Amino acid sequence: MVKMNENFSKLQGSYLFAEIARRTAEYTTANPEKKLIKLGIGDVTKPLSNVVISAMHRAVDDMADKSTFMGYGPYEGYEFLREAIVRHDYAPFGAPIRADEIFVSDGAKSDCGNIGDIFAEDNVVAVCDPVYPVYVDANAMSGRAGDWDGKRWTNIVYLPCNEQNGFIPELPVRTPDIIYLCFPNNPTGAVATKEQLRIWVDYARRNDAVIMYDAAYREYISDSGLPRSIYEIGGAEECAIEFNSFSKTAGFTGTRCGYTVIPKALKRGGESLNDVWMRRQSTKFNGTSYIVQRGAEAVFSEQGEKEYREIIAYYMNNARVIKKGLEDAGLAVHGGVNSPYIWARTPDGMPSWDFFDKLLREANVVTTPGAGFGPEGEGFIRLTGFGDAEATKQAVERVVGVL
Ligand code: MLT
Repeated sequence: MVKMNENFSKLQGSYLFAEIARRTAEYTTANPEKKLIKLGIGDVTKPLSNVVISAMHRAVDDMADKSTFMGYGPYEGYEFLREAIVRHDYAPFGAPIRADEIFVSDGAKSDCGNIGDIFAEDNVVAVCDPVYPVYVDANAMSGRAGDWDGKRWTNIVYLPCNEQNGFIPELPVRTPDIIYLCFPNNPTGAVATKEQLRIWVDYARRNDAVIMYDAAYREYISDSGLPRSIYEIGGAEECAIEFNSFSKTAGFTGTRCGYTVIPKALKRGGESLNDVWMRRQSTKFNGTSYIVQRGAEAVFSEQGEKEYREIIAYYMNNARVIKKGLEDAGLAVHGGVNSPYIWARTPDGMPSWDFFDKLLREANVVTTPGAGFGPEGEGFIRLTGFGDAEATKQAVERVVGVL
């Protein structure tokens, strides 16, 4: 008889955003006349920019002609895109990253979840708390998290991120093998400085650990002193993998394209992680579509960058509106600067799911309860700047109106 992967039965309920969607759908079904404003999941609302759309149209035409038709592409992505990524994202700050260290994929979420395939089950994993749930759940699925004790996973090292430490984790007592970091942070919106990242890079090198650095929100950093990539820190190429995405940079949440950087200098147990990941990808993945990769290439053209920066400015204006509105109403608010996420304390210490339900029912605004991101997220909610500008203003008024 077939046996199931028992690790799945240890998982708690549904994936956070699936649970939010379920509660939202339940409310909408019971109250079809209510117009909800959704500032929950970080999903973009602006269409793809003109230059991206034109590039994708041209790529469709390529597929229609025998002389330009493309079949299976390279597992690691087309060279035209990997070279554009190096030129745009790494060369400007002199990072030692080359095109053969880049793997194009269908998004950072898949890669963050799948990367665990190349690591042994008995590695100890550290995550920030609160944390993007994919890192934790993916490790739980592969048996690396231990057991759920009602609040936490017994084998995960949690790195508390709170108001006391400015939402930047401190080095843990128990030494992990794999460390997930994400800056600008989802969900708190905090951004680590170069000095703060340097501490983690030095620590990982001293302990032979590997950092999984999620930089999906890097283009939201406007402060030029803040690092957009972990490879701005010398030595990171020997201890860090970086995940990146076109979703939040250029509105690809539905189009799907991301990339993962695994430097050739990153070796453990005598093995090149780049080689092992290539082995994994060539076995389980057949690449991102040609049409999408042509669209992604256009993002990094001069016009593409101009267009995505305008869209990001629009979302960051929403973030400012939310932050100011909630602060003026007396809430303690973090994030929303160099990050599209706003992380706000609930009023009077109300539990996050209760506040989520209150805002859903009384303000008809969908948010994300902080507790869904980990125990340290209790007492917070997250709102996103990715909505429509007019709807965002209205949402803030509605939220403030029920405080
Ligand atoms: C979020 O809301 O945290 C993100 O949209 C989820 C994701 O990028 O997968």
